[in-house]
Amino acid sequence: MRILAISGSLKAASSNTSLVRAASRLAPESVEIIVYAGLADLPHFNPDLDDLDKEIAPLPVAHFRRQLRASDGVLISSPEYAHGVPGVLKNALDWLVGSGETVGKPFALINASPLATHAQESLTEILTTMAANIVAEASIRIPLAHRKLDESGIVSDPEISGLLRASIVALVRAIEDSRAEAEDV
Ligand SMILES: Cc1cc2nc3c(=O)[nH]c(=O)nc-3n(C[C@H](O)[C@H](O)[C@H](O)COP(=O)(O)O)c2cc1C
Repeated sequence: MRILAISGSLKAASSNTSLVRAASRLAPESVEIIVYAGLADLPHFNPDLDDLDKEIAPLPVAHFRRQLRASDGVLISSPEYAHGVPGVLKNALDWLVGSGETVGKPFALINASPLATHAQESLTEILTTMAANIVAEASIRIPLAHRKLDESGIVSDPEISGLLRASIVALVRAIEDSRAEAEDV
C-alpha cells in the first residue's frame, strides 16, 4: 500500500513538513508513505497549458499526477494563511480538478494547529467538491503548535507520534475498506 503525503508549507523548517516526514517513518511495515517534494515546482494553474485529451501537461504536473495515480491514499498537513489554504497547495489541487486523481481516493487531512480551523474547513470543502473520500477518523488535530518538534522529535514524542499513527491506521483502514467495496462491485 502506498500513501502520498503532502505538506502545504514550503518553509524549510516547516512543522507540517516535519509531520509528514515523521508519518513516513511511523507507517506500518506494509505501508509506504512517500513525501511529495514537488509543490514548489508546479507552475501556476492555467487551463491553456493542460491538454487533458492528449494528456499533455507541464512535466512537474504530469509527475504529480503520476505519483497520485500510483498512491492508494493521500495524507495532507497544511498551515493556514490569512484564514485560507496556502496558495501553493490550492494551486496543486487546481491541477487535479480536470484530471480527476482525487475522485474516490481516501484523504486524511491532519491539522497541526488548533487555530487553523478555516483552512481545514476550506480544504475539506475543496476536496469534497473534487469527489475525494475524506476520512473523518483520520482527519485529526495534532497539537504541534508551540512544541517546536522536528521530525525526530515528533517520532519520539509518545503523544504526537501516537496521534499521527492513529491517523495513518484510520487512513489505511479506509483504503482497505474502499478496496473491499471495489472488489464487491
Ligand atoms: C502569512 C501568514 C499568515 C498566517 N495566517 C494564519 C491564520 O490565518 N490563522 C492561523 O491559525 N495561523 C496563521 N499563520 C500561522 C501559520 O499557520 C503557522 O505558523 C503554521 O504553523 C506554519 O506552518 P509551517 O511551520 O508548516 O510553515 C500564518 C502564517 C503566515 C506566515
